[in-house]
Amino acid sequence: MTSGLLEEPVHPLVERTAAHIREKMAGDSSGHDWWHIHRVWMMARRLAIEERADLVVVELAALLHDIADWKFHNGDLGEGPRQARAWLESQGADPDVTTAVVGIVERVSFKGAGVADEMPWLEGRIVQDADRLDAIGAVGIGRAFAYGGHAGRLMYDPDQPPERHDSAEAYRTRSGPTINHFYEKLLLLKDRMHTPAARRIAAERHELMEGFLGRFFREWNGEA
Ligand code: ADP
Ligand code: NI
Repeated sequence: MTSGLLEEPVHPLVERTAAHIREKMAGDSSGHDWWHIHRVWMMARRLAIEERADLVVVELAALLHDIADWKFHNGDLGEGPRQARAWLESQGADPDVTTAVVGIVERVSFKGAGVADEMPWLEGRIVQDADRLDAIGAVGIGRAFAYGGHAGRLMYDPDQPPERHDSAEAYRTRSGPTINHFYEKLLLLKDRMHTPAARRIAAERHELMEGFLGRFFREWNGEA
């Protein structure tokens, strides 16, 4: 499967977009640095080849999916799709490609345990899988604590139990400790994967997180 990655050429617009995003996101310490984008891009490519999806749409959406995260734009959900569209139009991208990519960027993010995903296109489901795979496993654990530190959150607080968020608004305004994030999002992701390959990868990453949490609480309680 990996040989497929090497054989598939990278489209010039994809290459320009990667360079643009790399420059824009350099040095971010909130979990949205260039290497997050790079991992999502490579995983999305791998899934797209396996699923025979439109590679250019998948790659562009993977590269642009966090271009302006709502968490850093006062909750403005429209900023990312707007910037993605402006970039693609400035590059003379095919209007159908632009429409598809912007539609994906609009819908990709997780909005709470009780909020269903609406992603009507295979290309978008692939980008969503790739993005969510990067939120779990060893890298996901690292990113969660990096984000928690960035946002000034406690690592864990036994007095603040995890919550279930039934609206995007409730999810967006939460402020609990980082361990809660595992119960509010990360442990739910394996059952929300769309593609068979992502489901397989998620199962192993999920198991690692469960092992980590078991160990965390035993150490917390001085039992290990
Ligand atoms: P993604 O880029 O995967 O869509 P987000 O934008 O939701 O993810 O968040 C970026 C990273 O920060 C992810 O690894 C996510 O799990 C983590 N993160 C987001 N919110 C929290 C939180 N409240 N506590 C800890 N980690 C968080
Ligand atoms: Ni992301």
